[in-house]
Amino acid sequence: MIISKGKHNFFKNMEKLGIALTYDDVRLKTNYAEVMPDQVNLETQFSRNTPLKIPIVSAAMDTVTEHKLAIELAKLGGLGIIHKNLTPEQQAKEVAKVKYHLNGLIEKPICVKEDHSIKEINEKIEEKGYSFHSFPVLNNENHLTGILTQNDFDFCDNPNIKAKEIMSKDIIIENENTTLEEAYQIMKREKKKVLPLTKDNKVTGLYIFTDLKRIKSGESKNYNTDKKGQLRVGAAMGVGEDAKQRAELLTNKNVDVLVIDTAHGDTKLVIETLKEIKQTYNVEVVVGNISEPSSANRLAKAGADGIKTGQGPGAICTTRIIAGIGCPQVTAIYKCAKETDLPICADGGLRFSGDIPIALGAGASSVMMGSMLAGTKEAPGSTIFLKGKRWKTYRGMGSLEAMKDNPGSRERYSQGKSEFIPEGVEGLVPYKGDLKEVLQYYIGGLKRGMGYTGSPNINELRKNADFIRISSSGQKESHPHDIQITKESPNYPGGI
Ligand code: XMP
Repeated sequence: MIISKGKHNFFKNMEKLGIALTYDDVRLKTNYAEVMPDQVNLETQFSRNTPLKIPIVSAAMDTVTEHKLAIELAKLGGLGIIHKNLTPEQQAKEVAKVKYHLNGLIEKPICVKEDHSIKEINEKIEEKGYSFHSFPVLNNENHLTGILTQNDFDFCDNPNIKAKEIMSKDIIIENENTTLEEAYQIMKREKKKVLPLTKDNKVTGLYIFTDLKRIKSGESKNYNTDKKGQLRVGAAMGVGEDAKQRAELLTNKNVDVLVIDTAHGDTKLVIETLKEIKQTYNVEVVVGNISEPSSANRLAKAGADGIKTGQGPGAICTTRIIAGIGCPQVTAIYKCAKETDLPICADGGLRFSGDIPIALGAGASSVMMGSMLAGTKEAPGSTIFLKGKRWKTYRGMGSLEAMKDNPGSRERYSQGKSEFIPEGVEGLVPYKGDLKEVLQYYIGGLKRGMGYTGSPNINELRKNADFIRISSSGQKESHPHDIQITKESPNYPGGI
């Protein structure tokens, strides 16, 4: 990556002194600006071919990312990585729930047979994790004979009734080349909410009116969607046999990116897994975690499409304390980003919105958040009332409980089935409400940082940001001081 002279000198001088830095050790220098915060462009990459509309990725943790958070985050332009403390089948179902949430043209619609009962179809919906209820119905020759919609399921009081007995036969059918615009006009005119496309009586596609209405209204223009109009989503996997099984199931569900998610990403087993997956599947693979430039180099050479940096900075991490390894996060990001042109995701350790421009200014293309998202309504788990406040559970994937419960956690930390050496803790984070509101403050802070540094887009921030070292009294001065805060600010915790 091309780096400004100022930043290069700053980190070089620190290196000479043997100093590695993290978020609280630095601030960005302000700079002449021609852009206002509202004018900056936040588009970036999680991996070579996985774009983001905002540089926020949610952590692959069992208290952070399942389908609900992944759906909302992708709708806000970011990306969720579904955790791997689920069986491969459960994880694939979570991915499917995100992918099937929205559509443009559904190229391979799920069809049902006319002799199947509503009970059988409901079981299939449950088993596969479908979140929709519109199905073309086929006869034994796989010819389209009708359509089942949500209404048919809602008004059905006999689950043993066959699809052909309650399906709508009064349907419109168009040819396989019908465009989205033509479909929208036809459906509006005919007042039909489902439009199957066929060739020789065989179903080749499906349009759903609500999808087309959303696309036409421009409501989804800031969503992070793939070429088919489906929300983007990633999924975590480990190494070896389990990884192969996950890769097979997840790619079948059209996962956008796989993340080899281990505590030590620079190992023979990780590199072998990466190579095998890249050879077998046409899928993007991000690999982590690492904190040294030589590791970034090795992973890039082995074919990674993106790299995740961060060993031990996380809010729930004890790796650095237990194992005595790691590098403070800002220096780790800078050194890894300098080593490779691959997108770097800065994973863990962020506490305030101002840490986002710092991570990107150090060279990352995106940030991964755990604790900053675990308190949102969409994160897994219910809220807890304690000491007059609402909380949500947040735990390390290497915490004792997570490892006891899940092979996924044990694999991340290369541990056996008993006598665990935990590398994380379990606790509570304040409940924060809707992800949309929470993210508005994170993104607002990032945009302001870009305005202050005169960065019109993320790449300019990555290249040109310059840093200053901040002392502990400088850090103290930066926070509110000499005041008893009486009203908590939505983007700054504290207050009585
Ligand atoms: P934040 O600071 O955003 O960090 O909460 C989230 C990241 O922390 C990593 N992680 C762990 N690291 N022990 C560790 O050393 C753990 O138990 C653990 N669990 C998660 C992970 O990279 C995540 O994205």
